[in-house]
Amino acid sequence: MPETYFEAINLGKTYKTPSGDAVIVKGFDLKMQKGEFVCVLGHSGCGKSTVLSMVAGLNDISEGSVLLDHKEIEGAGPDRGVVFQSPCLLPWMTTWDNVMLGVEQVYFHATQEERNQIVEYYLNAVGLHGAKDKRPSELSGGMRQRVGLARAFALSPKMLLLDEPFGMLDKLTKFELQQVLIDLWNRERLTAMMITHDVDEAIYLADRVVMMTNGPAARVGEIVKIDFERPRDRRDIMSDPRYLEYREQLISFLEERVYQMDEAA
Ligand SMILES: Nc1ncnc2c1ncn2[C@@H]1O[C@H](COP(=O)(O)OP(=O)(O)OP(=O)(O)O)[C@@H](O)[C@H]1O
Ligand SMILES: [Mg+2]
Repeated sequence: MPETYFEAINLGKTYKTPSGDAVIVKGFDLKMQKGEFVCVLGHSGCGKSTVLSMVAGLNDISEGSVLLDHKEIEGAGPDRGVVFQSPCLLPWMTTWDNVMLGVEQVYFHATQEERNQIVEYYLNAVGLHGAKDKRPSELSGGMRQRVGLARAFALSPKMLLLDEPFGMLDKLTKFELQQVLIDLWNRERLTAMMITHDVDEAIYLADRVVMMTNGPAARVGEIVKIDFERPRDRRDIMSDPRYLEYREQLISFLEERVYQMDEAA
């Protein structure tokens, strides 16, 4: 049996609101193996970002626990690299310095030369070497997200957490960035949890797609295992008959939930 590397156990989140307690997530259970790539799908507002931010340690856990590499997480830390829809880059710093900032934190025992090599390696990997002296305001949205990916991978985290990282990009840029992400991931095989609204993106990237039920009290609904070999070729998998089966499974789960939402309204 492969070892469990990440585990969310009975995870729950209740927000205090003026109209009382709002139970957003309840009984969310998920195990992941080391090096597994999981995409999380679910309707808007069901609680995906709430789960991810608890795993990142950026949001208090109301109930249950999260184990990473056999240890319970407490607060945020550089063992989890987080990428949001808009990367929070420091506007006064260059691309190079934005990536170096995290590297200095994690590789504090390394020499400056070693740290330079790490930054250089990841900027090359995301295709940004030519923009290393530019500030975020001089970069396009896609380039900024490349910095976000470089920064997260450069930490060599135990886990990569991505919340709709390509949600704001046009389709072409999104394809490019998916490629940058998966090329890096293929090299390093980090354990990754990525939230997306895009069914095709989930099938292309994930080993398993975790679908969340609608809130309130959202949890894991169904899990679809994506059996395509890696590295994957987008065209090859799209012409594989299993592609449409996976797509159908994911879409019908989401559609069922839409009907339930209508009935509840
Ligand atoms: N700080 C907060 N206080 C109260 N309610 C909150 C808070 N943050 C989020 N919520 C509520 O929790 C629910 C889940 O929010 P969350 O952002 O996790 O959803 P999501 O699945 O990521 O949605 P989307 O797909 O639109 O990003 C929403 O109903 C939201 O209004
Ligand atoms: Mg969200």
